Amino acid sequence: MVEVKERPKERTSPRAQPARAGEGNDTAPPFRKIGVIGAGQMGNGIAHVCALSGFNVLLNDVAADRITEGLATISGNLARQVSRQRISDEQRQAAIKRISPATTLDELSDCDLVIESATEQEEIKRKIFTALCPVPLMELVEVIRGIATDDATFEATKHFIAKLGKQIAVAEDFPAFIVNRILLPMINEAIYTLYEGVGNVESIDTAMRLGAHHPMGPLELADFIGLDTCLSVMQVLHEGLADSKYRPCPLLVKYVEAGWLGRKTQRGFYDYRGDKPVPTR
Ligand SMILES: NC(=O)c1ccc[n+]([C@@H]2O[C@H](COP(=O)([O-])OP(=O)(O)OC[C@H]3O[C@@H](n4cnc5c(N)ncnc54)[C@H](O)[C@@H]3O)[C@@H](O)[C@H]2O)c1
Repeated sequence: MVEVKERPKERTSPRAQPARAGEGNDTAPPFRKIGVIGAGQMGNGIAHVCALSGFNVLLNDVAADRITEGLATISGNLARQVSRQRISDEQRQAAIKRISPATTLDELSDCDLVIESATEQEEIKRKIFTALCPVPLMELVEVIRGIATDDATFEATKHFIAKLGKQIAVAEDFPAFIVNRILLPMINEAIYTLYEGVGNVESIDTAMRLGAHHPMGPLELADFIGLDTCLSVMQVLHEGLADSKYRPCPLLVKYVEAGWLGRKTQRGFYDYRGDKPVPTR
């Protein structure tokens, strides 16, 4: 994670050609896609400079209208650069095309570099970093051995993961591998339990936390994973294994269709818009 402190500087040459994204030091990994968190004064300036330099940018903020405001500011600043002949109109148009809004942090997952420029409040930044970096909390790496993976590749992969200090679980290449093959049907069954009225959100999560010693209830966990992701995994299992026992619960489908995707949209099996999560059923 990088916090960029510099304000964007205007280019001085009328037709300055920005370095092309991914070019430069041959030994450095090529950064192509940059995530910028916070579309305020710093964030929109950083997004502006990155896009003008040829990088694709995903601009994130807490609300879509903040991103829209950030994009409008960038657009205005680029237009001013054109009127002052600091950049060409083609450069302005290309830069605008390179910036896309990202309303959730999940969308930044395939960025090569993420620059955090959100409001200067420790709590906000801590939350962002926690949400951005769940991977370090995960002790496990599931290694999928494909049908054609040779021993040398397999051993090199295991060696690399061991160096990261992670534990390995080897899985054969079948839909959802091990963790999701077991976890998601359990979550789906918890949703059926809710759907059929066997228990409410609170009783299902409490039962599994205390009765099965799960650190999180299955519905709480579903909201954490993202209900759209849960549905996708169930669909992969249902189609890939052609077994009706993996049929996604209609209530899960209903939530996803409503856009209630869990924590990332503030509503799922719990409502996260207040001080503490409140069950939605
Ligand atoms: N403005 C400067 O000149 C300057 C200079 C150096 C460093 N900085 C640092 O840059 C950071 C941003 O400052 P700024 O001036 O752009 O502030 P700003 O108030 O203009 O913008 C901050 C943006 O962050 C957004 N935000 C808040 N919580 C968020 C979250 N959880 N996820 C995503 N976005 C969130 C806000 O909605 C807002 O749009 C701060 O850490 C600040 O100290 C700013």
